[in-house]
Amino acid sequence: MHADLVVLGASEVATPLGRSPRRGGELAALHVAKDAAVAIARGKILEVGAAADIARRYAADRELDAAGGTIVPGFVDAHTHPVFAGTREDEFEMRTQGASYAEIAARGGGILASVRGVRAASKEELLDRLQVRLDRFLELGTTTIEAKSGYGLDLVDEVKSLEVLAAAARVHPVEIAPTFLGAHDVPQEFRDRPARYVDLLVDEMLPRVAEGRLAEYCDVFTERGFFDLDASRRILRRARELGLGLRIHADQLSDFGAAELAAELGAASADHLEFATPRGIAALARANVVPILCPVVPLFLRLQQEAPARAMIDAGLAVAISTDFNPGSCFLQSMPEVLSWAALRYRMSAAEVLTAATLNAACSIGRGERLGSIEPGKQADLLVLDVPNHLHLAYELGRNPVSAVIKAGDVVLEREPAHGVRRRGEV
Ligand code: NIG
Ligand code: FE
Repeated sequence: MHADLVVLGASEVATPLGRSPRRGGELAALHVAKDAAVAIARGKILEVGAAADIARRYAADRELDAAGGTIVPGFVDAHTHPVFAGTREDEFEMRTQGASYAEIAARGGGILASVRGVRAASKEELLDRLQVRLDRFLELGTTTIEAKSGYGLDLVDEVKSLEVLAAAARVHPVEIAPTFLGAHDVPQEFRDRPARYVDLLVDEMLPRVAEGRLAEYCDVFTERGFFDLDASRRILRRARELGLGLRIHADQLSDFGAAELAAELGAASADHLEFATPRGIAALARANVVPILCPVVPLFLRLQQEAPARAMIDAGLAVAISTDFNPGSCFLQSMPEVLSWAALRYRMSAAEVLTAATLNAACSIGRGERLGSIEPGKQADLLVLDVPNHLHLAYELGRNPVSAVIKAGDVVLEREPAHGVRRRGEV
């Protein structure tokens, strides 16, 4: 049989299986095939099987040697804020010197600092920056991202941000699921009348976003001092009426009841959830909302509270993990790093973190039918990693293990292994 591409020479292929989110105990049910190979044609996976069988059965236009590494699905980063202009290392420095996120925001930093940057930047500038960031995602094995606007906070600059995402998606291999986050914060000009900003979101911004098909999802930062439960409900209901899927920045800084709101509205995801209560977790489980956890954010903000990931898995939730890449609360693009920190902080197994970073994340952005696992019929989004097995992926910190990236059947990135596991044995 003919294949466009066969990936051979892997020590293992490790992948979750299925087209729906893996819940509870299913997160650990990884399919691991030793000495396996993958055959690909027309952008899709034809077969995963024993290397000897695949080599015998397929005549391939191209063979890619995995060099004893591990093949996993491309990472899906289901929570990112990649459209911004300036960085905020000054705030990081203030935090290491003792200031809190809230104090920094009160001094004019925080989200509104990035809003000034986006408003001042041209579309071309934003697109240039975004493309550099997409290159970095790809180098780190992320083949699909959910990407939020949310640093414009007015009609023109939110639309500009979403159009930049659309423009990048047309030319870059990283696939983008765009989310409208006009309700990220109340902009300076509405600080004395925040209810008017909610009116603007509901009456003008959301209809414009929906009409232009600029976003698949609407997200709200539901938190004390940002958008309360009533305002969040109003914005998200309107978004739902207009045909958008829903996401919520939920219970990140306090126990605010946002998980319950996500369940009430049937959101696709509730994100962060550091302060989620047993009631909130039960509500998410009843409504099949995917919790998207961001294990590096509390570390980056020097906050103690950690999302109750094990309780969520025990409650049968389909946990996903993400970077939350943004200039303020987590300047991190590496999903390999997120896998390690999720394992360490949440006591998740290597199998669980891999499922959370691929299939469950893909399902949370409505792409579980097509993405998130390596099995016949799915789009061929996969990585060759320079590690001898999937346990090693979470275990090794601080090195990029990605040696090749395949997106929709194309080898879009190839790198010489930094230290080939086969040539040099144990690292
Ligand atoms: O996901 N929680 C709200 N938004 C971001 C932080 C954004 C920023 O500080 O720029 C987050 O953590
Ligand atoms: Fe976020």
